[in-house]
Amino acid sequence: MLGVGADRPLAGRRVLVTSGPTHEPIDPVRYIANRSSGRQGHAIAQAAARAGASVTLISGPVAIPDPPGVAVIRVETAREMLEAVEAAMPADIAIFAAAVADWRPEQEAGAKKIKKDGTGPAPLALAENPDILATIARKTVGRPPLVVGFAAETDTVLDHARAKIARKGCDLIVANDVSAAGGVMGGLENTVHLIHRDGAVETWPRLSKDEVARRLVVYLAGMVAG
Ligand code: CTP
Ligand code: CA
Repeated sequence: MLGVGADRPLAGRRVLVTSGPTHEPIDPVRYIANRSSGRQGHAIAQAAARAGASVTLISGPVAIPDPPGVAVIRVETAREMLEAVEAAMPADIAIFAAAVADWRPEQEAGAKKIKKDGTGPAPLALAENPDILATIARKTVGRPPLVVGFAAETDTVLDHARAKIARKGCDLIVANDVSAAGGVMGGLENTVHLIHRDGAVETWPRLSKDEVARRLVVYLAGMVAG
């Protein structure tokens, strides 16, 4: 077996990655979701596996294939994702790339489709979903030593990302601009900023999502190595 080296900087590490959207059912055929192809999260899981890590990928519903060499757990809702994350612990590095739906219908979806009855739509009451990243980052027992969040923003990207790192308690935020002009959503490229707890920011050039994943894995390996 190969040891830790330039090719396998995450050998012997356990890495957990969330990816994709979550779907929050209104009824058996309708749901609330965020936009996410899962490409960036899946690419990170694959790059971590190639770097020698033992990787668990917890994915919402996506149309892309499972990355090779990765244990994939499929979920639908935010609450299922949180449960799967808890079950997959412990981890040395936890990376939360999923676009989790912030809200779910307050009423549990029944087995029957809601029918239009000609009186217009019934109001849809929403409940807030658990914040998976904050739940894990704020653990006092069993917190992964390195907790990484993502921030998809459409404006004042760095300000929002700095506020988010403080609010969530993670160690690093990977922020990207997902405004329509950026072409990130569903695309193959990404421009990311890495924001640390102390406010330090590193901005990478526009890269393919696969290249962002490869660089991120090397960067995180450096952080866990001290
Ligand atoms: N996240 C999560 N669970 C949630 C919401 C978000 O784990 N219920 C994680 C995402 O995977 C991401 C980070 O938190 O790593 C930031 O998600 P984002 O949607 O940008 O932040 P929110 O706190 O939900 O704020 P808002 O959507 O209002 O910008
Ligand atoms: Ca959100």
